[in-house]
Amino acid sequence: RVTALIAGAIGKDGYRHYMEKELHEHPVVIGQTLQRLIDPATRRVVLPDLPFDLASVPRAVITACGSAFYAGMIGRYWLESVARIPVDIDVASEMRYRDPPLTPGGMGLLISQSGETADTLAALRGMRAHRQHIVSVLNVEQSTIARESDVVLGTAAGPEISVASTKAFTAQLSVLACLAIAAGRRRGVVSPDQEQALVASLLDLPSRAGEVFDQADAIRRMAAVIAGARDVLYLGRGSSFPVALEGALKLKEVSYIHAEAYAAGEMKHGPISLIDQTVPIVATAPSGRLFEKTLSNLQEARARGGRLLVFTDTQGAERLRGIAEIVVAIPTVDEFTAPVLQTIPVQMLAYEVALLKGTDVDQPRNLAKSVTVE
Ligand code: G6P
Repeated sequence: RVTALIAGAIGKDGYRHYMEKELHEHPVVIGQTLQRLIDPATRRVVLPDLPFDLASVPRAVITACGSAFYAGMIGRYWLESVARIPVDIDVASEMRYRDPPLTPGGMGLLISQSGETADTLAALRGMRAHRQHIVSVLNVEQSTIARESDVVLGTAAGPEISVASTKAFTAQLSVLACLAIAAGRRRGVVSPDQEQALVASLLDLPSRAGEVFDQADAIRRMAAVIAGARDVLYLGRGSSFPVALEGALKLKEVSYIHAEAYAAGEMKHGPISLIDQTVPIVATAPSGRLFEKTLSNLQEARARGGRLLVFTDTQGAERLRGIAEIVVAIPTVDEFTAPVLQTIPVQMLAYEVALLKGTDVDQPRNLAKSVTVE
């Protein structure tokens, strides 16, 4: 299979569905998006000119819908932990009616593939009324949200045809990671050495993302388990929690199987009562600070008869082999960039389940690519 895809070319290029083609475009779109924001000579993040100073921005408010919202949740972890910016986040359909008190001069951060989502646009206008600086992360740069933004940070994902978003997500993460690094530098909390290390981990992503596809067989074995289930529980901690949310959303969208995602530590406050042989658990548990915590949650689930299907990395794999039924180990990368890479196999899993269920993968029932009405 030719992997040197030109993102943006329309047509399925021999793939069975647009979703499959677009999944294979992850490495290319991550690379193209980073190329726009990282100077190859200095290996520093270079953002377009902003009409405000990231050093003094009091707060960021992030809003979006669907998958873009989950990208925003990962963006929140980064803006908080890397740039030390206080962040509020909500889905746009709630944000537009919440009327939160916003300090003038804050950053309103909108994320949207299409740039046309009605709720996201309404939330933008609400933020504008509260004198926020509007920064949008958009794939369609000639869109309504683009026209109403102060700054557009483009994702270079090319046209996304599959109704269920895939490649736009990792492109959005690539932009948000660069924004967090630039903000951290400007605020004096990311040193030049730290910036170099973070940028190096980003630039490593396209080739590591290509290696994720080596795990296709193991992912198909997971899919065979999921396809026979009525309900699936997705788990993750920290920046893996939004990855779990994205996995559950994608599964619902394209396979019509009910899935719920929980923060792994929250499992004992409810969903643990669901666990038995019939409810498979899909966990995202890359190595790192939170690995042991997630592992102990998975051991609790295992002790209650749960079937564990776990996405990890090569470093975490050994510890999981004893307790999980299927382990998918993708390349180990820096904790910072792990959620970008871990998203790819959970999206692939949803696609493989949809194939087994025989659904209309690219045009799932009742869904629209762009939701321009409330
Ligand atoms: C629809 C699509 C989703 C998408 C969401 C937000 O529901 O089916 O895949 O995540 O809208 O769309 P946007 O264009 O704003 O990212």
